[in-house]
Amino acid sequence: MIKDNYLNNLKDKTIKAGVIGYPLTHTLSPKIHNFYLQKFQINGSYQALPCAPENLLSLINELKSKNYAGFNVTIPFKEKMLEICDQLDGSALEIKAVNTVVINNEKKLIGYNSDAQGFIENVFDKAKNLSLKNKNAFVIGAGGAGRAIVYALLKNNIKNIFITNRNYSKASKLIEDFAKISALQNCKIIFLDSNQFFDQLNLADILVNTTSLGMDNQPPLLLDLAKLKSTTVICDIVYKPLITNLLRQAQNNGNPIVTGLGMLIRQALVGFNLWYHKKIIDTENLEELLISNKI
Ligand code: ATR
Repeated sequence: MIKDNYLNNLKDKTIKAGVIGYPLTHTLSPKIHNFYLQKFQINGSYQALPCAPENLLSLINELKSKNYAGFNVTIPFKEKMLEICDQLDGSALEIKAVNTVVINNEKKLIGYNSDAQGFIENVFDKAKNLSLKNKNAFVIGAGGAGRAIVYALLKNNIKNIFITNRNYSKASKLIEDFAKISALQNCKIIFLDSNQFFDQLNLADILVNTTSLGMDNQPPLLLDLAKLKSTTVICDIVYKPLITNLLRQAQNNGNPIVTGLGMLIRQALVGFNLWYHKKIIDTENLEELLISNKI
């Protein structure tokens, strides 16, 4: 249930959106959206909508009846949302995960995935001279975020993707689901168990952690990076803490790093444009403001 006094305070024309997840204690998405709503003087709202899995459908019905423009979905609903949406955009269909939903005038749910775009824009923004053409990517994790990142790498002409995951069947399903597009892109996706992954790390040009390992209150990601080439770019999608154990180790090793906060901001801007009809290209200094707790 959405708090009524919150809604009563909103004027009729306010464009409403929010993020659904569970638990949703540390989400930065409301800060990001409200920063831009204020900056561009848009009559809109964006709120955290924590929701236990058994209440997901009733919350979505409530959002429809209260004329929400749409919502984001995060852990653990990104794959579940695929089945709930009435229509899927190409990226959501290919990635098989949804993180952004538009509720259209007919109250239909249109699902999008902006994680791939958010990831790749952030990587190219931070690692300015990076080219992925004919390179080897090493990816840890095969969940919703892992699928989006593999998709982004495939679309950017990577040559090989070496993937490891605790649960083999999930990685193998990912490889199967991407078989057609990887063949089209002339890229191989190869599963490695954790020992093989470590043994071959010297081949990596880019390494990405797509799991929740290393996040506050989660186990650390333990991976010895000593074998890496000094040019290998190390990316983490975790943004709390900003410098994870993995990134600290990479820094100590002298490798370039890409933190996860920029991906979060950039994936948010896709939804912002869909709901509030404002395309933001320059993220301004939002990353610094969030890091320094100024907003
Ligand atoms: P998201 O949609 O955010 O990617 P997810 O689909 O639940 O979330 O995926 C989480 C990823 O983190 C998976 O790759 C998961 O591994 P499994 O597929 O084996 O579950 C990985 N992960 C989470 N906790 C982990 C842990 N303690 N050890 C190893 N991998 C973990």
